[in-house]
Amino acid sequence: MAKVILTGDRPTGKLHIGHYVGSLRRRVQLQNEGDYDRMFVFMADVQALTDNADNPEKIRQNIIEVALDYLAAGLDPEKCVLFIQSQIPELAELTTYLMNLVSVARLQRNPTVKTEIKMRGFSQGEGEEEEANNSQRKGLPVGFFCYPISQAADITLFKANCVPAGEDQRPMLEQTRELVHSFNSTYGEVLVEPEILLPDNQACLRLPGTDGSAKMSKSLGNCIYLSDSADEVWQKVRGMYTDPTHLRVDDPGHLEGNCVFTYLDAFCTDEDFAEFWPEYANLDELKAHYTKGGLGDMKCKKFLNQVLNKTLEPMRVRRHELEQDIPAIYEILKKGTEQAREVAAQTMDEVRRAMRIDYFNDAELIAEQAARFKAE
Ligand code: TRP
Repeated sequence: MAKVILTGDRPTGKLHIGHYVGSLRRRVQLQNEGDYDRMFVFMADVQALTDNADNPEKIRQNIIEVALDYLAAGLDPEKCVLFIQSQIPELAELTTYLMNLVSVARLQRNPTVKTEIKMRGFSQGEGEEEEANNSQRKGLPVGFFCYPISQAADITLFKANCVPAGEDQRPMLEQTRELVHSFNSTYGEVLVEPEILLPDNQACLRLPGTDGSAKMSKSLGNCIYLSDSADEVWQKVRGMYTDPTHLRVDDPGHLEGNCVFTYLDAFCTDEDFAEFWPEYANLDELKAHYTKGGLGDMKCKKFLNQVLNKTLEPMRVRRHELEQDIPAIYEILKKGTEQAREVAAQTMDEVRRAMRIDYFNDAELIAEQAARFKAE
């Protein structure tokens, strides 16, 4: 069977290093290994609009930011199709049909959506709606509630079987597999069941913010962006949350919840030690010294800064070059979108045929009906 890789991001902001270790780095690797028949990476602007309906300008501005981040990080339009979700009308069509194959109760059980509804303070249900009106809380938009179905369409329209994504996307992939199963057993084998491809490094499943909170998020101001200058990165690393009990250098340090070490887990290699800090052979040795005591936070932060910049500096340089010709970036996205639409049209033909809604191409149907009416 053909190997089709597909993944995407909501274009709600510039990409940060959490995106990079959680998914982007792996995509670039996969792309360069070349072990696939097709690879798609797209900007999920339709999904981004499900909770930003009143702020389309934000999405519009961030399309180009994310495209620049993708290309700067090494995604290559010659090897992988880059496209914009909203420009593929077939996605909306498939979503509509998949909606009939999943119950409201099943959607309500999706743990990622549950968490997101809570985080955004959306209210649900009749009683709550009233309460929401009083407290200025917003009712849950139907589009937001249904986005896992739209996401299943994203994946299945391209017959993707490999979806590189973070742990939080696991429930989406589960729902997608259920929908594929349901579609195929109802209408015939057309869609393909995808597998999630998780980051291989534990520290990458979810990189915490620089303040130690669970997640990097723009609103918390705790992100390191791929496009940050070297100086911005150093300011952020310098102010990073470490171990509040590690007051003097001689005190034993703790690793748990210590961002500097979490980030090192995600980024550093033995070669980085050889290059920047040869007193240690690897991260285990550094951790051992830190926990024993006698190693200051500042030294570790300086090392982390070097490690981060080793990855980020080439991206900065590439991004700067790409920024000089913005129309060319839109052209890349347009071309990718055209390529994606070809595949989309092909799958939709199969979907409509399987669902028996290809009326005008169904010669048998037309002949049958003609015969029936003649007989009467
Ligand atoms: N839900 C993903 C996110 O929040 C974005 C996304 C939309 C996606 N459709 C997808 C990811 C399909 C993988 C496959 O980042």
